[in-house]
Amino acid sequence: MQLLDGKVASQAIKEDLKIKVAQLVTQGKKTPHLAAILVGSNGASETYVASKVKNCAELGFKSTLIRFEESVNEFILLDKIRELNEDKDVDGILVQLPLPAHISDEKVINTIHPSKDVDGFHPESAGKMMQGLPTFLPATPYGIMLMLEHYNIDTKGKHAVVIGRSNIVGRPMSVLLSSNHPQGNCTVTITHSHTKNLAELCRNADIIVAALGKPEFLTADMVKDGAIIIDVGITRVADASKKTGFRIAGDVAFAEVAPKASYITPVPGGVGLMTIAALMRNTYNACIAKNEAEEED
Ligand code: GUN
Repeated sequence: MQLLDGKVASQAIKEDLKIKVAQLVTQGKKTPHLAAILVGSNGASETYVASKVKNCAELGFKSTLIRFEESVNEFILLDKIRELNEDKDVDGILVQLPLPAHISDEKVINTIHPSKDVDGFHPESAGKMMQGLPTFLPATPYGIMLMLEHYNIDTKGKHAVVIGRSNIVGRPMSVLLSSNHPQGNCTVTITHSHTKNLAELCRNADIIVAALGKPEFLTADMVKDGAIIIDVGITRVADASKKTGFRIAGDVAFAEVAPKASYITPVPGGVGLMTIAALMRNTYNACIAKNEAEEED
């Protein structure tokens, strides 16, 4: 079994970006600027956004964190997004999900200009991804592809089972793994809460991407020997022995699955770190595209 170490793989991507940003500075060009919006004070969202802001600083990106109260009016939030769309200094905009129930995720996502949609959630970005056109890819599936690339994993012709069909992970993951790409060309089965024979499908999988948000759901009896296991879960589980009162659990029962796997991602220290590295790469690409468009003007 080999660990797919998110620390190692994300560091390689971030080192590359750091060098590229330093080159932009030398050339007197604009450096990447990410604007992150956080609504309310959900503990996990606070942690993710803080980590995104910290990563920007490490790479020499500019970042702006905009916070709103949980009770914020949808109009005000949408207006802020429109203002950021117009702001020439801002390259990428992300609104941390989940949002409070009175705010429409769909309206928020659709309001972000596609040229600044570094989360890759806008329907225009999703449509381009579906057609294999250049676009921003959603950070978690993109990060997983980068992880497979870093470890030079041959996916061609393999049977991949994706557990979960969210717009953020499962669905785009199934598109990318099936696409004609060095880390794609898989035969993909996408599964969800109505799938009848999930354990059997998983036992037939060469690659399993577990993205359903149920701690330790994937057990050893569901995995064939030599499978590649990608764990997207990051659930907070109460744990009195921890200072914080919780531990982070993945969707895979790591201790029992790891001995059967050829490759496996740990939680924490796996996919989560790749998600941030992928977001940073999207933000860098947004900045480059904007710099080029301005040079043409
Ligand atoms: N919530 C969970 N994952 C994500 C993500 O990739 N981007 C944003 N904006 N919110 C999330």
